[in-house]
Amino acid sequence: MGDTMCRNLSKYALLFLFLSLSGLIFLLRIIHTMESWNCQTISALYQLQTRIHSSLITVNLPTYNHNLTFCAHLGQKPSPEDELEERYLLDSIQWPGPPPRFATPSLRQSSDPVHSVFTILPDKERRGWHIGDQLEALVQIHDFQGRPKRYGGDFLLARLHSPELGAAVAGTVVDHRNGIYSALFPLLWVGPAQVEITLVHSSEAVAVLKHLREHRPDRVFFKSLFRLGFLSETTVCNMCLPSNQHPLCNYTDLYTGEPWYCYKPKMLSCDTRINHAKGGYLKHLLTNKEALLFQSGVNIKVQIHASGKDRINVLPPEDNAEREGSSVKTESIQLMPSGYYFKDSWRPLGGTVMRHFNESAAITQCLRNKVINMYGDSTVRQWFEYLITSVPEIKEINLHSPKNVGPFMAVDTTHNILLKYRCHGPPIRFSTVVASELRYISNELDGLSGGPNTVVVLSIWAHFSTFPVEVYIRRLRHIRRALLRLLDRAPGTLVVIRSANLQALDQEVSLYNSDWYSLQLDTVLKAMFRGLDVLVVDAWEMSSAHHLPHALHPPQAIVENMIDMLLSYVCPEKKRSQK
Ligand SMILES: *[C@@H]1O[C@H](CO)[C@@H](O)[C@H](O)[C@H]1NC(C)=O
Ligand SMILES: *[C@@H]1O[C@H](CO)[C@@H](O)[C@H](O)[C@H]1NC(C)=O
Ligand SMILES: *[C@@H]1O[C@H](CO)[C@@H](O)[C@H](O)[C@H]1NC(C)=O
Repeated sequence: MGDTMCRNLSKYALLFLFLSLSGLIFLLRIIHTMESWNCQTISALYQLQTRIHSSLITVNLPTYNHNLTFCAHLGQKPSPEDELEERYLLDSIQWPGPPPRFATPSLRQSSDPVHSVFTILPDKERRGWHIGDQLEALVQIHDFQGRPKRYGGDFLLARLHSPELGAAVAGTVVDHRNGIYSALFPLLWVGPAQVEITLVHSSEAVAVLKHLREHRPDRVFFKSLFRLGFLSETTVCNMCLPSNQHPLCNYTDLYTGEPWYCYKPKMLSCDTRINHAKGGYLKHLLTNKEALLFQSGVNIKVQIHASGKDRINVLPPEDNAEREGSSVKTESIQLMPSGYYFKDSWRPLGGTVMRHFNESAAITQCLRNKVINMYGDSTVRQWFEYLITSVPEIKEINLHSPKNVGPFMAVDTTHNILLKYRCHGPPIRFSTVVASELRYISNELDGLSGGPNTVVVLSIWAHFSTFPVEVYIRRLRHIRRALLRLLDRAPGTLVVIRSANLQALDQEVSLYNSDWYSLQLDTVLKAMFRGLDVLVVDAWEMSSAHHLPHALHPPQAIVENMIDMLLSYVCPEKKRSQK
């Protein structure tokens, strides 16, 4: 279509275009050359460039009908079973909110962590707390006027920890929907244990986030560069674009049906797409009143104080005097976490026996003869980086890939190890991904032979938080199908899935990447891969239990534990170690 358009242009038009483009290129050259002159010119010109750039982009930004969550309904129609599963999953992440009469939230009536309190409930039989028991803390949320809240929906985090022992576990929060919450903790170690409760967002703030997710899937936008010869154009892209405003290029994936669109460039055809990149974040998403619900240090991730004492002492079991750190009888614990820290090491509670790969020789020994394929967002790229920096024998090959984007590859020819990383397909907010490197994980999995020497590591969550959850469910469904095909044709293939983690939040980050979005995705992820022969590394609990600050890319100490999990799964202990 673009080609015909070009041919129909009179040669004068083409000449004029050529001249003006040359002029523009010349101007940009000058700007580029000038950039090396002095810093002030650079920043001034840079600001000018970005302003021009962003204004160009804004002009072309689509106007959505914000009442429709049409992103979710694009692509292949799900089967009846898929629809059933989707309904079940969406039900399982239903989140209570303020009653409708509070539709216009006011700060005064919203949850205030400073006025709120928690209380550790006394042990029922007055015999002291023992390992294997469950500890309960009741949280009463109050508003900024000090009045108790009467409805639920606040997003709370709870952890029980002991700095002395390097011990910590994430608690389960139960919303009683009346302003009162129970934080439940299994008691997994002998010794001191301290309760910590954090209000991440008020229920009023969560209601705003929920509304944004369903109605503003355009609040992160993407762009692509199209180029042919001298001509180049950049247009806006997204999973769904209103088609009544400009013609579209349809990049819907042929195998999975995953939708992706860009506005068609004026002069060029759709097959001249060169790359894909994050376009930007829409601003002014909140009213002034709503903005008050997202204040760092006021109502984003602020700790709630105890009304009495916030710590207890956990005793050994009454029947036999087991010592500190000895294994816990976990049958009695109702809400089992996936693990806990002890002496700063993660101890998973399901299946995997943790080994420690603290020396690079142990890692190369484990990965000998293995091909490790990592696919996903930057949180699994962090694992790739961890391995190549902690094992000098695994050397990265320079593929001339853009920094932080990949694809990346590293080898250790002595031990016959191949390590690869590739980012997942759109939506991905990486700086610039070459169009030919945009691959969907499920298609990549279909291209693997697999087998006992193949390890697949996946992480896909952070770039989906601005979309309705249906979009994420559909993506995971495609990945799960491809994983099942892989495990069927190549039994013994090892599959590890890294879940979502908590991150540092301020107002801006909250609107696009709040932990509330991540929690919802994380719940869906864990449910969809439950019962499959895969290891889920619970990055959520590992980051929420840990004492180090939340970060999108968790601190080294946490990554070390994640890598130990990965390697313990790949190289399980041969025989049980003697007690
Ligand atoms: C969106 O919904 C609101 C209330 O439900 C309605 O008043 C408004 O007209 C709708 N807008 C569009 C563009 O459909
Ligand atoms: C884009 O292409 C897919 C697959 O060919 C098709 O199902 C879909 O309807 C197309 N979208 C539009 C808006 O034409
Ligand atoms: C690694 O762990 C082993 C066993 O726990 C210990 O003996 C060794 O000193 C550790 N090495 C390093 C470098 O920390």
